[in-house]
Amino acid sequence: MPVLVVIGGQWGDEGKGRTIDLLAQNATIVARYSAGNNAGHTVINEKGTFRLHLVPAGIFYADKTCLIGNGLVIDPAVLLEEIEGLQSKGVSVKNLYVSDRAHITMPYHILIDRADEELRGPAAIGTTFRGVGPAFVDKVGRIGVRMGDLISPEAFRERLSLVLPYKNAVLTKLYGLEPLDFDTVYQKYGEYGSRLAPFVTDTAAMVHDALGRGETVLLEGAQGSLLDLDAGTYEYVTSSVPSSTAAGAALGIGIGPTQITRVVAVYKAYVTRVGNGPMPTELTDATGEELREKGQEYGTTTGRPRRCGWFDAVAARYTARLNDISAAVITRLDVLDTFASLKVCTSYHINGTPVDTFPASIRQLQRCETIYEEMPGWQEPTTDIRRFPDLPRHAQDYVKRLESLIGCPVALVSVGPERDQAIIVKPII
Ligand code: GDP
Ligand code: IMO
Ligand code: MG
Repeated sequence: MPVLVVIGGQWGDEGKGRTIDLLAQNATIVARYSAGNNAGHTVINEKGTFRLHLVPAGIFYADKTCLIGNGLVIDPAVLLEEIEGLQSKGVSVKNLYVSDRAHITMPYHILIDRADEELRGPAAIGTTFRGVGPAFVDKVGRIGVRMGDLISPEAFRERLSLVLPYKNAVLTKLYGLEPLDFDTVYQKYGEYGSRLAPFVTDTAAMVHDALGRGETVLLEGAQGSLLDLDAGTYEYVTSSVPSSTAAGAALGIGIGPTQITRVVAVYKAYVTRVGNGPMPTELTDATGEELREKGQEYGTTTGRPRRCGWFDAVAARYTARLNDISAAVITRLDVLDTFASLKVCTSYHINGTPVDTFPASIRQLQRCETIYEEMPGWQEPTTDIRRFPDLPRHAQDYVKRLESLIGCPVALVSVGPERDQAIIVKPII
């Protein structure tokens, strides 16, 4: 009864959605366990092109159960819109379930997200403005509203009566914003609650039952490990409790950690980052621009241009160890098809001395000099290749070099965004 976690090994947008869409065919349950609609997971399959923010990427298989776990913060308007969007494209959501313990992103969270960023000025994090950070702050501050509250008119009234005066004091006295009207919020969100109620249940119990039957469960991470509150480039990280790393998966779905049998990390064949914060291999020159244009590197959630750079093997090895990964997935190899030569960062130096570990301090990270290894490009298209030995020799060498630097077998190489544009090197499930 394998339980697999799929996580991002870099700063997000590695192709987790695409990977889950492929792996889900061999699972029974696919569950999101962390974050909120700051995530944007793109799936392209025979049903169309989808940008999922909350619904797990297993939703395209009618026989799979898809769960939104207790670890998420859910903007109910976004979830309803996503559900309707899927239905309008002929995708059934009858197997979608939402945890009664998940938290709700309320309208004041979105206002506070924007106001906080403005207050930070030049130190702004570059958030997605989806209210996700403030919603997790309230979860930890024990002033959150949960899905179980939202779907019960009495419980929601009671909860909002407690929470809204407090949040209005924060909005008006701290940020100088207008207060929110109780009746307006109660009515609008109460209606969202009644529409979502049929989906809401104890999702953890569903996973326990499935594990009891020996079924395969796929846990879908969001973001990337370098955006994690503890392990990432703090404070330029995302606020998700539980963490989006593999360690957060058990907590965010409500199972014990020893149930997890495999951890699969997804890496792009280069790196990208949206938002602010250090990124040692960032290319601010024409090569970075070329990567962005060839890869169409614009954010799935916000449309912002992604910052692009060479593969950072120091960071990749760090996240591989942090998550104790069992297999690596390399995506977007095809984006490198036209480059005459490629670089991989193999170590960081400060004042000529190698740095052994990934620095905790962003100040130190910014001082790191990146040491590169140059490799020849293959300059041939790879998008139609489905077997590893059929890749051009230099492409094989590049993947093998990443594998040895990451320190874990590469099980899957993705050469295009569509479900079948994949080279399965070793079966993952
Ligand atoms: P996620 O957040 O990790 O699910 O990744 P996103 O969906 O935000 O971003 C990944 C982008 O890369 C999406 O536009 C995918 O369609 C696309 N993609 C995934 N794998 C490949 C690949 O192998 N080649 C190319 N060209 N695009 C890919
Ligand atoms: P997926 O799951 C890429 C980044 C934001 C910002 C920082 C904090 O699609 O990989 P937040 O709104 O979370 O408070 O913003 O985190 N960020 C992501 N970057 N992919 C994501 O998710 C992200 N989720 C958050 O850009 O830098
Ligand atoms: Mg994304």
